[in-house]
Order: sequence, then C-alpha cells, then structure tokens
Amino acid sequence: MSSLSPQHGGWPEPIVRVQSLSESGVSTIPNQYIKPPSQRPSIATEPQQVYDQEPNIPIIDLGDLLFGDDHIDSTIIMNQISEACREWGFLQVVNHGVSLELMGRILQLWRQFFSLPIEEKQVYANTPLTYEGYGSRLGVEKGAILDWNDYFFLYYLPYFLKDHDKWPFLPTLLRETVEEYCGQLVKLSGTLMKLFSINLGLGEDRLQKAFGGDDIGACLRANFYPKCPQPDLTLGLSPHSDPGGMTILLPEAHDAGLQVRQRDSWVTVKAAPGALIINICDQIQVLSNAKYKSVEHRVVVNSAKNRLSLAFFYNPKSDIPIEPLKELVTPDCPPLYAPMTFDQYRLYVRMKGPKGKSQVESLKSLQRS
Ligand code: OGA
Ligand code: NI
Repeated sequence: MSSLSPQHGGWPEPIVRVQSLSESGVSTIPNQYIKPPSQRPSIATEPQQVYDQEPNIPIIDLGDLLFGDDHIDSTIIMNQISEACREWGFLQVVNHGVSLELMGRILQLWRQFFSLPIEEKQVYANTPLTYEGYGSRLGVEKGAILDWNDYFFLYYLPYFLKDHDKWPFLPTLLRETVEEYCGQLVKLSGTLMKLFSINLGLGEDRLQKAFGGDDIGACLRANFYPKCPQPDLTLGLSPHSDPGGMTILLPEAHDAGLQVRQRDSWVTVKAAPGALIINICDQIQVLSNAKYKSVEHRVVVNSAKNRLSLAFFYNPKSDIPIEPLKELVTPDCPPLYAPMTFDQYRLYVRMKGPKGKSQVESLKSLQRS
C-alpha cells in the first residue's frame, strides 16, 4: 500500500466519527450508513419470551479442566468443545481463569477512553496501512456503505510491533491494564489451542506449532457502537468471519448485539455472566482443512444505548505459509486451500472491509490444479 495518499489520512474520504454523528442528535442517519434492504437487520420486536427461547451458542464450563485434579474425566467437556467448534464455530466459556475483576476494570477503562472529547482521541487517528489507533472504518473502497462503529486497534504481540506510544495515554491506567488483560488472554488462548488440537486428533502442541510456536501475533480491538436513531437501517459491523486464528470477545454484560449465522438465520448471542465468547477464525479453518469453520457474524445496534466490546485476536506468525495440516489431508479429504501467509491474507480485509466469508472461500479458487 505504498500509494497511500496523505489526503484524508490515507482513507478514500474524510473520516467521520460515528460517535460525533450519534451525539449530534440527528434523527436520521446519513446515506453512507444505510444498508440495502436485503442486508438490514430485522430488529427483534418479538416478546422477550420468544427471545429467551431462541437457541444460544453453547456455554462451556472450563473449571474442572483447568483447575480440577488429574483424576477428572474430561471426556464430556472435550466433546462439548468439539461439538461447539464443529456445529457453531462459536462457544462461550466460563471459569476460564481470566480475572472477572480485571474484565470489569478493562471495560470501564475503554468506556472512559471513548468518553474523552473527540480531540483527545483524534491524536490516535489511524491509517489503512496498519490500522493501529482510533478508526471509524474498515476497507478503503471509495463510496462503500459504512458500519455504525468507531474502534481502537492495537498490537500486543509480536514484541517488535508493540508500541505503547500508540496506545491511549488516557485514562491513566489503560496501558498497564491492557498489558495485564492481554497477558491473561494469551495464556487462555494457548490452553484453547491445545484443546482444539487434541480434539482434531493431533498432538496437543501441533496447532500452536503451525501458528509459529511462541512467535504468534495478538491484537486488541475495542469496538464502540454508538446508539443509533435508525438501527433497523444499518449494522454496527457487517457480516464477516475473522481473518486470524481465534478471537476472544468480551462484550459488556447482557448487552445483545452480536449475532452469529446459523444456516439461514442470525442467532443473537446471549452472553452468560462472566463469560468470554470464543470463535474459530479463518486460519484455523484453513489449518484444520475445514473440520472447524470460521463462522460469519455481525453486530446490530440499538437506539437506547451505546455498546462496547473488546475483541482479542490470536493470530499465527504473520510471515509463514498457512495451509491444511498434512495429518488432516487424505485421499478422501484433499487440501481445500492454497497456502498463504497471514500478512498476505489480511491485506484483503484491510482493503475491502467486512465481506462475509468471501475471502476464505477465495482461497479455494487459488488451489493448484
Ligand atoms: C469483531 C467482532 C463483535 C462484537 O470485532 O471482529 O466481530 O460484538 N466483534 O463487537
Ligand atoms: Ni468478528
């Protein structure tokens, strides 16, 4: 992207902060946020009862597995995890070992960050080159229909990409709290990688090794979805699958917004108290030769409340080829995807923005014949 133009900070159009739009009190949203009718959400107007009876992504208690003694029979829980990965591509975990107090604290700090005056945040305005900092769009296509969110994106790993000066200076405790939080999530991710690896019939370290061992990447995106006067016309985040390895999402308690595609419908995620939402992303779909799928999801907004979520992305080392693991390729199950590095892969989403599952699907057409 060396042709990045300095005009509009490298973006194709001037950047508008969705939060400023929301706070200006407009009663209609600008055309650039209005989705074509087929892509609009149907906001749940059903009675609460119906909502309560809808399916939810599986809730899995990791307590016994992580903290139980060695004699625990882990078969049931391993099977639950396996089924969630295969059927949903999504699960929520409780008793995951990440401090609940820390989870509350970090959400509070990011809330404070987004409450700062726009000028304070503007200092961190991002560009499409690395996306680090304060942003309001994904993709650089001029005239694209945009999503109703602002975000802050930062690198935690590898060490040479981590730069505290690019993280918010205010609120005061944010930087050290992000360190603490990401540290705990890297640990949980390592554990989940082992569980996934075992469930795929591989040695417990196989997936992690394919990710580049200790040289993995990790980033955090704080998503802020301002309240929206016409939530039925737009989306907080358009349908997409996450490009990386695995995502761990911390939504603010009890706030509906995230929806997961299951067949032809969208299922609203109801997060259990203290839960972290885990989803399989494109690189694990590729490595597992589609035994595990990265599932499409989107975010709907509402007119009553701002919503905040923290998405932690656990990714492979970015310059090694990622391709189906040899152990999972057989004459009956030929490799479904051509090799590609994650650096190459993520350029697509960085240029085009969220586009359903079109990217991972396109790897199939790149297969050697
Ligand atoms: C993401 C994402 C969901 C949410 O950041 O990739 O899907 O609820 N976020 O914010
Ligand atoms: Ni996502």
